[in-house]
Amino acid sequence: MVRPTNTLHRFERSAGILRGVSLLIVLSACTNQSSGTAVAATDMQTGNARMAQILEGRALVLNHDCAGCHGGRSNPAHPYWLSGARTKDDEFTIGPFTTRPRNITPDNQTGIGRFTERQIFNALRYGLRPGETPDVEISSFTPGQGNFPLHPRYLAPPMPWPAWRYMSNKQLYAIAAYLKNGVKPVNHFVKDSEGPPDFWAAVYVADSIGGFPPAPFPTVRERAR
Ligand code: HEC
Repeated sequence: MVRPTNTLHRFERSAGILRGVSLLIVLSACTNQSSGTAVAATDMQTGNARMAQILEGRALVLNHDCAGCHGGRSNPAHPYWLSGARTKDDEFTIGPFTTRPRNITPDNQTGIGRFTERQIFNALRYGLRPGETPDVEISSFTPGQGNFPLHPRYLAPPMPWPAWRYMSNKQLYAIAAYLKNGVKPVNHFVKDSEGPPDFWAAVYVADSIGGFPPAPFPTVRERAR
């Protein structure tokens, strides 16, 4: 019973020492050298914040099972990690249409390399296909209002963006940062999904997928205690 706590304390102590040492290195870089080095120290801090964001995105991709559909299951060392559908078994039949999880590695031709992090954010928050939606900050949730496209090109089911959109801005941007910067590009072309002429607009209505933000708690189907 006592041992795990001790081990934890030991770990925390040594992590504390390591933090102390790296702080000393940064401080001496700032004080002893030219202003050029001070900028480098700031860059290092920015770099650390970026790495923390990428690691947060990686954790979210793992625990939301993105690779269960996009390739690689739960193993980020898998050769097909996030590189899209490869066989019939990876495809989905939605009514008369076949849909295919796309390559979401940062390859410029076949993956999400040509999209910005904001376009990936817009895909996860609003369900808008990044290849067919302008790279702008979306200002409403209703087609035709603000700059939400009047005829939105939605991601084909079963991409679960109606659920993923409830993650925070910070979480969705972390996923975008991981996909763009923390994954190796894989050149693998996935045939486009099929879909109805309205690009699934009839499927993605508030009555069936709920609103954003969600209805206040408790709704008629919930209880507060
Ligand atoms: C149940 C299967 C499934 C899961 C789980 C899933 N996706 Fe998808 N995803 C799809 C399908 C299918 C498409 C293709 C949609 C289309 O062709 O319009 C897609 C498309 C995308 C796209 C658009 C890529 C492009 O080039 O247009 C992104 C980005 C994406 N998914 C990210 C994610 C992330 C991040 C997660 C996990 C948080 C995730 N997906 C989980 C099925 C899934």
